[in-house]
Amino acid sequence: MSSITLQNLTKRFGATVAVNDLSLHIDDREFVVVVGPTGAGKTTTLRCVAGLEKPDDGMVLFDGQDVRSVSPAERDVAFVFQNYALYPRKTAFENIAFPLQARNLSAAEIKAEVERTARMLRIHHLLDRRPAQLSGGEQQRVALGRAMVRRPRAFLMDEPLTNLDFQLRAQMRSELKRIQRELDNTFFYVTNDQVEALSMGDRIAVLNAGTLHQVGTPQEIYEHPADLFVAAFIGSIRMNFLRCAFIADTGALVSADGGWSLPAPPRLREGAQKSKDPGQLILGVRPEDVLLSTEAGNGALEGQVYVAEPLGNHNVYNVRIGPALVRVKTPATFMLDAEARVSVQFNMARAHLFDSATEQALT
Ligand SMILES: Nc1ncnc2c1ncn2[C@@H]1O[C@H](COP(=O)(O)OP(=O)(O)OP(=O)(O)O)[C@@H](O)[C@H]1O
Ligand SMILES: [Mg+2]
Repeated sequence: MSSITLQNLTKRFGATVAVNDLSLHIDDREFVVVVGPTGAGKTTTLRCVAGLEKPDDGMVLFDGQDVRSVSPAERDVAFVFQNYALYPRKTAFENIAFPLQARNLSAAEIKAEVERTARMLRIHHLLDRRPAQLSGGEQQRVALGRAMVRRPRAFLMDEPLTNLDFQLRAQMRSELKRIQRELDNTFFYVTNDQVEALSMGDRIAVLNAGTLHQVGTPQEIYEHPADLFVAAFIGSIRMNFLRCAFIADTGALVSADGGWSLPAPPRLREGAQKSKDPGQLILGVRPEDVLLSTEAGNGALEGQVYVAEPLGNHNVYNVRIGPALVRVKTPATFMLDAEARVSVQFNMARAHLFDSATEQALT
C-alpha cells in the first residue's frame, strides 16, 4: 500500500503533449478517479505510473520516493487494462492463480487465496470454466482477481468496466468500491464516464487534453465546477450555459439576446464583479435547477416546449426561451404537451457564473 504522487508530469509523443505538467497526489488507500474525454491523457498517465512510459519531464513518487530508476516489475503495481487478456486455455481458477505460481506457495495456499479472492468478486462458482464459457463481466472479474491476488502496493485501472452492459456496469461500480475498502489499498482509476467518477472516487481529477482542470471530492466537483469544461463534462444532463451581462446599476443579469433579465442574488453579484468584463458572462444552470410550471409565476420567464424526452424515471424538456434552448429535468409525472407554453424559473441560489474570456468560474 502506497501513496502515489505525480509531480509536474509531462509526456509528449512528437508534437502531441499527451500529459501536460500534471501534478496530483493520491493518498495511501485512497480511491482517486481521473476522468476525461478520449485523448485526455488518462492511459498515458497510468502508463507513466506503471513505468511503461518514460516521462519527458517531472516524476512519479511512491510513498515520496522517486521511482525513475525502478523497473515496471519492481514498482509492484497491478495494472488492469481496458482490454484484459485472459489465458484462453486456462480455467478461471488457473488464470487467477497464475501470478501466485511464481511464489513459493503450496497448492493448498494457492487454492485458499484464489477462492478467497473469487468469493470477494462473486465468481467462486465459476472457477472451473474457461474464458470462452464466461460472460464479458465475469471475464472482467477474473482479470481483476488475477490482479488482486498479487497484493500489489497499488492498483491502476484503465476503464475496466467499458465492455459491460449498463446494468452490470452499475453493479460493478458499487462492487469495486466495496472491494477497494476490503483490500484497503490505493486505487488509481481512469475513465471517460463521469458517472463512474462521481459514484466511485473519494476524489476526482478532471483531465482534458493533457491538462488537469480540477481536483476535488465528487460533491465539490459537481457543486463548484472550477471552469466551463468541468461544468459541461460533469453531470448526466449537460449544464445550461446562457450568455449574459451584469448591469451594475440595477444588479440584474441580462441575457445577451435581450430575452430576459433576472435580479442577481448577492453571491452572483459578487462573482460578476470579479470579472474583468462583466458584460461578457455565462450563467450556468443545471437542468435540475430549472423549475417549469404551466401557471405564470412571479419573476418567471416565458418559454415554450421544443422537445420532450421521457426517460422513465424522469423527463427532460428542451424549452425555448427567446432564441435560447434550455434543458430542464422534471419528475416523470410532470407531463407537458409538445409546444406547451410554460413559465420557467432558474434556482439562482444554485446557479453558476463564468467569465467568457477566461472560462473560469466566478462563483
Ligand atoms: N504511443 C503513442 N504514440 C503517439 N501518440 C500517442 C501514443 N499514445 C498516446 N498518444 C496520444 O496521446 C494523447 C493521449 O492519449 P491517451 O491514450 O493517454 O488518452 P486517453 O485519455 O487514455 O484516451 P481514451 O479515453 O480514448 O483511452 C492522444 O492524443 C493520443 O493520440
Ligand atoms: Mg485510454
